[in-house]
Amino acid sequence: MRLDDPSPPRRGRVLRNWLGLAGMVLAASAVFAFLFLWAMDFFASQANPYMGILTYVVAPGFFTLGLLLIGLGSWIDRRQSRKSAADWRAHVLHIDLSRQRDRRMLVGFGMAAVVFLLITAIGSNNTYHYTESTQFCGVACHEPMKPEYVAYLDSPHARVACVDCHVGSGASAYVSSKINGVHQLYCTLTGNMQRPIKTPVKNLRPAQETCEQCHWPQKYVGNVDRTYTHFLADETNTAFSVHLSLKVGGGSPTYGQVGGVHWHMNLGNKVEYIASDERRQVIPWVRFTGTNGVVTEYRTPDFKDDPAKHTLRTMDCIDCHNRPAHRFLAPNDATDRAIEAGRIDRSLPWVKSNVVATLIQPYRTEAEALKSIEKTLNAQYKNAPQLASLVKETQAIYSRSFFPEMKADWRAYPDNSGHKDWPGCFRCHDGQHKSADGKRSIAASNCNSCHTILAQGAGAELEKVNLNGHTFFHIDAPNEDFSCNNCHTGAFPKE
Ligand code: HEC
Ligand code: HEC
Ligand code: HEC
Ligand code: HEC
Ligand code: HEC
Ligand code: HEC
Repeated sequence: MRLDDPSPPRRGRVLRNWLGLAGMVLAASAVFAFLFLWAMDFFASQANPYMGILTYVVAPGFFTLGLLLIGLGSWIDRRQSRKSAADWRAHVLHIDLSRQRDRRMLVGFGMAAVVFLLITAIGSNNTYHYTESTQFCGVACHEPMKPEYVAYLDSPHARVACVDCHVGSGASAYVSSKINGVHQLYCTLTGNMQRPIKTPVKNLRPAQETCEQCHWPQKYVGNVDRTYTHFLADETNTAFSVHLSLKVGGGSPTYGQVGGVHWHMNLGNKVEYIASDERRQVIPWVRFTGTNGVVTEYRTPDFKDDPAKHTLRTMDCIDCHNRPAHRFLAPNDATDRAIEAGRIDRSLPWVKSNVVATLIQPYRTEAEALKSIEKTLNAQYKNAPQLASLVKETQAIYSRSFFPEMKADWRAYPDNSGHKDWPGCFRCHDGQHKSADGKRSIAASNCNSCHTILAQGAGAELEKVNLNGHTFFHIDAPNEDFSCNNCHTGAFPKE
């Protein structure tokens, strides 16, 4: 720039005031942050969908802001030069290194720019890690993720980060996950989201990349001992427990006998199926390919379609363990647990039935529900000394398992790992799925093939252990029926 020139130079307007310069630093930092974030994400082992928000929304946002500042600087400059065209030098940013003031300002500006770039780098790095944290997923995105977050905190995986199960890796997952992240941000900001969020989650990472990173499928589990304690919906809240030995077994001869529930996971076995509904609750066709290559197709009598017209799914962990981190307890189970633990006093008449009844009313918001629960129980147990604790516990159950704002509770999310309240195992193991010649049905279709009922009932009855397995004694009559969920829905069973 020649200062003795009488007319202002055409180029370099941007550099002629501090605002424009600041804009340039901002824009440059944004470009820097963009490249930095992009590289970090590119080299990371797992693609993070929320990085898309930073890389493609926030960084370009700052870039645009920088450009606006530059524009503004240049506009101010132009106005001033029009006002005093005579002496453009008066307003031009005129850096004269021989002047101490200019030197100081330049050094100051340079230092500020470097610090700013540094902060951008640190900030981007920290934000990057923040978007991978459970805090970000569960708390920052508060409303839509609240149900899953609350259930997660109560789950065996409460110490596993959300991204370990949810965030995909690989080049193909990359772009779609970016779009998905930005889309989710948009939906959250506009409140325009699915309520409840639909399952099965379509872009969930395959079990091999998630579950099997921590649980090796060949592991021999053997028998798992479980007791399910229930209280009936009668005046005395009669206790009824089932003590099962679940034959989980294993899928690899190297580590134990192959068989049991985890037989499906035998590396050589392949089970594929067709679901006729979106939630995969109705399975009319199953194909099993054994270790020896023998293929058997099973179908229910009403399925006459050509399987080639449908999409097949290969069974993996999630077909049984579909709620490993977000199990919304059914009101029956939640209330049974509270009574068993003594948090709800079993001596209150009809307490099981009344608590479940007040939990399942159609409420619009959590606040409305908590108020209404209090009012109902106050009326029902006016004089009981346990009233306050009963109200508190019932409200706590509600807040843990019901999310009316997101329409999320046990009704929205079936649990496939059993067969009582949802079809679960009986989607295939109901004795109705027959091979083409009609001679075979899927194995493990009697009451003692997946578990042995060691004991059942209450008190002294529970001590009558039968290692060969009792016949299931259903309250007042034996029941060997494969449609438990026709009556059991998680709230009151239908008679
Ligand atoms: C142990 C693995 C695991 C962890 C950890 C995990 N999830 Fe999930 N999540 C799943 C599975 C499996 C599904 C759904 C399965 C299906 O398709 O039915 C799911 C489903 C969801 C859904 C869809 C709605 C629903 O309830 O099915 C949301 C939202 C969700 N998870 C959010 C989160 C958040 C937020 C975190 C962390 C606080 C988290 N998840 C941690 C495994 C996990
Ligand atoms: C980051 C490691 C990790 C990942 C990923 C993971 N799990 Fe787990 N899982 C664990 C740990 C640790 C436990 C034991 C928790 C305990 O004992 O309380 C566990 C426990 C379990 C249990 C037993 C639950 C119970 O009630 O005792 C099941 C079933 C299970 N995981 C299934 C899954 C499935 C299905 C997935 C994939 C969607 C998965 N896990 C992903 C670490 C993991
Ligand atoms: C056919 C259904 C089914 C499939 C498929 C399945 N599981 Fe299981 N699994 C069960 C059942 C049933 C139990 C015992 C009850 C429970 O914990 O829910 C169990 C138990 C477990 C346990 C707890 C074991 C213990 O010591 O308490 C873990 C961990 C587990 N499964 C992991 C997995 C993983 C990982 C996969 C995929 C490689 C898988 N399961 C596939 C049904 C299945
Ligand atoms: C998608 C269909 C499907 C679902 C759902 C399913 N299974 Fe299976 N299961 C099969 C098929 C197919 C076989 C092989 C049967 C055959 O060819 O006789 C099998 C075999 C078994 C076996 C016998 C293993 C052996 O030693 O021969 C057990 C036990 C079993 N399943 C338990 C379960 C349990 C428990 C659940 C629910 C948590 C479940 N299955 C869910 C399809 C399914
Ligand atoms: C295909 C395997 C399979 C078959 C066949 C099967 N069950 Fe089960 N059953 C399970 C599994 C798995 C669980 C554990 C569910 C859980 O932990 O959520 C279970 C749980 C139960 C429970 C305890 C549930 C509770 O909440 O109290 C009872 C009772 C029961 N089964 C009875 C039966 C009866 C009766 C039959 C025969 C009609 C039968 N089962 C057949 C796999 C099976
Ligand atoms: C015809 C309807 C019907 C069918 C089918 C049915 N139940 Fe029940 N079941 C009931 C009723 C009614 C009760 C009593 C509930 C109460 O008073 O709280 C009950 C109680 C129970 C209980 C103890 C209390 C509770 O709430 O859990 C268990 C466990 C149970 N049933 C398991 C099963 C299993 C497993 C199957 C399938 C093999 C099954 N039931 C099939 C109607 C049915």
